[in-house]
Amino acid sequence: GAAVQVDISDVVPGGKKVVEWRGKPIWIMRRTPEELADLAKVEGDLADPQSERKAIPTPGYALNAHRSIKPEYFIAIGICTHLGCSPGDKFTPGPQPSLPDNWVGGYLCACHGSTFDLAGRVFKNKPAPDNLEIPPHYYVSETVVVIG
Ligand code: FES
Repeated sequence: GAAVQVDISDVVPGGKKVVEWRGKPIWIMRRTPEELADLAKVEGDLADPQSERKAIPTPGYALNAHRSIKPEYFIAIGICTHLGCSPGDKFTPGPQPSLPDNWVGGYLCACHGSTFDLAGRVFKNKPAPDNLEIPPHYYVSETVVVIG
């Protein structure tokens, strides 16, 4: 499929932009410094914190704690690895129904309750078998990224 060029200059910290690539929703999220710091806090609660599972391989450039090329920007396919629902928009910290007590924010798939952190890493004991998929992508400038 054709690659998609995206201007990300309008994505504010804490914000998210969704574009379509190969018929799939691609999330481009700009994490705040607090959200990046929170990634380390949940590592013990994740099923595959280092993205070592091979069923859905993570590109080499995203094999890091933030699962992205630039720490600030998280780019992922917004489709749950369980049965293909699209997880809900970013859920903020604080106690909420069906979320773990130590929830610091992330994504919730309403279909069967899988939760993901803000690097798309799935929590333990959830039906989703893998972290959210990272699409192939690269930056052509500070603010323009090509998906595909
Ligand atoms: Fe997401 Fe089942 S499709 S938890």
